[in-house]
Amino acid sequence: MRSLILVLALLGCAHAQDECHPRQFEYDSVVCVCDSTYCDQPGIIEFPAEGSYTAVTSSRDGLRFNVETLPVSSEEDPGAVEVTLDRGNTIQTMIGFGGAFTDATGINVNSLPTEAQDLLLRSYFAPEGIGYNLCRIPIAGCDCSTRPYSYDDVEGDVELEYWSLTEEDYQYKIPLILQAQELSSQEIKFFGSPWSPPSWMKTNGMFNGSGELLKEMWQPWSEYFVKFVDAYEEQGIPLWGLTPQNEPLSGFQDWRWNTCGWTAEDMRDWLKTNLGPTLEAAGMRRLKMMVDDFNRDTLPAYVQPMLEDPDCAQYIDGTAVHWYSDRYVSANVLDETQALDPEKFILYTEACQGYDVEGPLSVMLGSWARAEDYAHYIIESMNHFSTGWVDWNLALDMQGGPNWANNFLDATIIVNAEEGEFYKQPLFYALGHLSKFVLPGAQRISTTTTQSTLDVASFLDTAGGTVVVLLNRDDNELDVSVNDGSGIYVNHRLPAKSLQTILY
Ligand SMILES: *[C@@H]1O[C@H](CO)[C@@H](O)[C@H](O)[C@H]1NC(C)=O
Repeated sequence: MRSLILVLALLGCAHAQDECHPRQFEYDSVVCVCDSTYCDQPGIIEFPAEGSYTAVTSSRDGLRFNVETLPVSSEEDPGAVEVTLDRGNTIQTMIGFGGAFTDATGINVNSLPTEAQDLLLRSYFAPEGIGYNLCRIPIAGCDCSTRPYSYDDVEGDVELEYWSLTEEDYQYKIPLILQAQELSSQEIKFFGSPWSPPSWMKTNGMFNGSGELLKEMWQPWSEYFVKFVDAYEEQGIPLWGLTPQNEPLSGFQDWRWNTCGWTAEDMRDWLKTNLGPTLEAAGMRRLKMMVDDFNRDTLPAYVQPMLEDPDCAQYIDGTAVHWYSDRYVSANVLDETQALDPEKFILYTEACQGYDVEGPLSVMLGSWARAEDYAHYIIESMNHFSTGWVDWNLALDMQGGPNWANNFLDATIIVNAEEGEFYKQPLFYALGHLSKFVLPGAQRISTTTTQSTLDVASFLDTAGGTVVVLLNRDDNELDVSVNDGSGIYVNHRLPAKSLQTILY
């Protein structure tokens, strides 16, 4: 029954730029199948002429970036849910959207035929794709690698004489990043994050488990960052930013994969006495330094000591947040963090579905429920100062790996190497509804709605266009009437369980 509805829905979507080749697995929606010969791309979607609006829709029942252009109205639809935009109330300026060039990403992309690799990277980075422009690069290995490693695994090499990039950089990261840069029509901003220092620099002598950086390694570990930034720049990949440590508080637990524990006070002292001055001396103060790089539940307590100490705060540009506790912790902590220093930004730097389950549920092919849940939190974070969203692995395999610590995860694109195919998950479209339309420099504007199952965030782009992102979590169609106070109304019907971007 569901597949019949899907077929009908797809036949009805006359305006789609490039149709999704749907395939249903055992979940509530479909993946879009791509291979060496075909991949659906939304194409370039422009703002419509005055007097019209463009609505781009994806839905559980099979729409994927379905484009319609319709006239705006001069009257509110009296029966509709009101969505009220306050164009005069601009809040944060957006930085971007993207994902991470992990080793697992490179391994999976490389496992496809060359033409399919190209279509995969185009899907993310080309103007006809979803226009990713903000990407994370793990500094050496993380769990999404096939082994734990650093750039200097020669015990006791405090002068970093044996420091070097690894085979993973040359095979899995650098070539893909260079290709992404070539495909993109924008500047892609890259930031690096380390999971663990070399094990010999740590109190426990291991990449994982519970351990901190030895105090006498505070300076060598700072020099290590400079070497990374230089090495990537030499490869043609200039960095835009850094986080000093991925998930620092995980390093005090018996963590299964690469980590390093930092208390907020030690992090503050290391940043102000070692890492900050070292980067500055190397001419790298331009790099955006984003602290915490961990879940909401650490906020605002973890960043408070750093932001309250001017000697440390001078080296900090923003707070990096991971998604994994958003379900349990109110978004008010983001507001509290922003209030600590309104000059510094908040940015989501890691998120993925499937992190909280084991086994076959790590990857749920075609799950709209996961995409909806994800989009709900992306929109919520935008409404609480986040300047963007950086998804985790750009591509994982059918199991959600590879991952040396068996921490299998879901991803926006799943690669089926055996068939030479890759699958665009509903999650891909969820991200795309923002990344393709909410461009760097856009300003989020205050927006309200009267319906609890409708999530909405709105933006003014740099050319003055309005971008409204709507998520209908209800199982029924929903009529909305968007009112920005200018006398123009966008009266539109959202399908059941759908995500929509309205441009006007
Ligand atoms: C840490 O990694 C090693 C492999 O390098 C593994 O044997 C060990 O179980 C890991 N520790 C934890 C706490 O998972």
